[in-house]
Amino acid sequence: MAVCKILKMGDPRLWLEAEPVTEFNTPALKTLIEDMLDTMRANSGAGLAAPQIGIPLRVIVFEVRQNPRYPEAEAVPLTILINPAIEPVGEEGDTGWEACLSVPGLRGLVSRPGAVRYRGQNEKGEFFERLATGFHARVVQHENDHLNGILYPMRVENLRYFGYEDTLFPDT
Ligand code: NI
Repeated sequence: MAVCKILKMGDPRLWLEAEPVTEFNTPALKTLIEDMLDTMRANSGAGLAAPQIGIPLRVIVFEVRQNPRYPEAEAVPLTILINPAIEPVGEEGDTGWEACLSVPGLRGLVSRPGAVRYRGQNEKGEFFERLATGFHARVVQHENDHLNGILYPMRVENLRYFGYEDTLFPDT
């Protein structure tokens, strides 16, 4: 079990374009995925991208199940997604509050496509594809952004809706 240090906003490594994974079934990839899951769960995160622990590879993990940080969110299956490609499905947008383990204590309102199709590889290199809506769609888009050097505050359209969690939501 290895809980890694999470890079915070301001660290230039978070702005990098991550590199595709080309070798699967390696001890290094297995360790990276285990470390990411341990780190995500230890911090009650809904997802984590490899660049957040300083590894510039296109690997994301996410899972939502009775998460105290997102009590209202519907369950999202544990997913290990490598070299993802995401495309919006339909025209419908969705606006929701986001948070990020690299931006602790803050929340911001972000608009994104409401439904997406994503495709990528699992830890064995096998391709899979899913259709996602709701919080699932939001999480996969948020994590994929990390692979392109984008943090959610860069997508907050009105900074009035970006602030401290305990001030925005004093009752939770
Ligand atoms: Ni994040």
